[in-house]
Amino acid sequence: AETFNGGKIFNDNCSACHIGGANILIEHKTLQKAALSKYLENYDIEPIQAIIYQIQNGKGAMPAFKNRLSYQEILEVAAYVFQKAETSW
Ligand code: HEM
Repeated sequence: AETFNGGKIFNDNCSACHIGGANILIEHKTLQKAALSKYLENYDIEPIQAIIYQIQNGKGAMPAFKNRLSYQEILEVAAYVFQKAETSW
């Protein structure tokens, strides 16, 4: 997956709640690898797919992005989140 635009898409759509990989609303549900592994369903099986699902559908206080971002944009920002999680943001 191309990650070239992932950072910009993240800054424009996600950083209000997830700046630096944090979570300002539910503070333990961060975008760090350990939290994704613990709280995001199927992260340990298919991490990119698990992140894509969360972005498309939202959850709780997180809005769904499937009508706000294209599939290509969702894929790029998911790859960015995965890459940042692997390197501890
Ligand atoms: C959870 C990604 C936008 C609020 C998550 C999780 C991911 C994620 C991967 C799972 C984290 C975990 O369970 O440890 C993204 C991406 C976004 C985005 C890539 C932009 C496309 C937002 C925005 C908000 C938000 C704008 C606030 C309005 C939340 C909340 C959770 C969450 C509250 C916890 C949901 C729950 O389990 O109840 N996000 N997010 N997110 N996000 Fe986002």
